[in-house]
Amino acid sequence: VEQSYIMIKPDGVQRGLVGEIISRFEKKGFVLKGLKLFQCAKDLAQEHYKDLKDKPFFPKLIDYITSGPVVCMAWEGDGVVASARKLIGATNPLQAEPGTIRGDLAVQTGRNVVHGSDSPDNGKREIALWFKESELCQWEPVQTPWLIE
Ligand code: GTP
Ligand code: MG
Repeated sequence: VEQSYIMIKPDGVQRGLVGEIISRFEKKGFVLKGLKLFQCAKDLAQEHYKDLKDKPFFPKLIDYITSGPVVCMAWEGDGVVASARKLIGATNPLQAEPGTIRGDLAVQTGRNVVHGSDSPDNGKREIALWFKESELCQWEPVQTPWLIE
């Protein structure tokens, strides 16, 4: 089954948006498989965002992601990767549609409150990077038959 790595960035934690953000994925109907509050080291942030290492903003991005605790989440469901990107909204919060997390809750690209994997392969890669196998739970919500025919 498809999985996406969703992470509430340090600004989302500091601004008290953890419950609000988790709630959007819960209400949508995806299944939470892993969840933790975590202070991330520089090398992990660099590995996570390695595709951006040549960008001019890369050092600032690493400082941002390591500036305080983040909330790491593994969410599962058919189509979760693309759907989560839609729920999150455009990278620049000023361009993100109202109703999206970034569109409703943020104003700057450098403080855009949440990360979402950009492909199913990266979803797998990122969940393996941020979670130990023992931190992920295999469980079936009782509501599943009311969400999926
Ligand atoms: P993520 O879900 O965090 O991966 O964001 P994204 O997929 O919408 O954007 P992308 O992967 O291209 O960039 C990763 C993150 O780098 C963004 O979410 C921003 O936090 C940051 N970022 C991207 N572009 C800029 C920029 O031009 N300036 C600054 N300061 N940060 C940027
Ligand atoms: Mg990205």
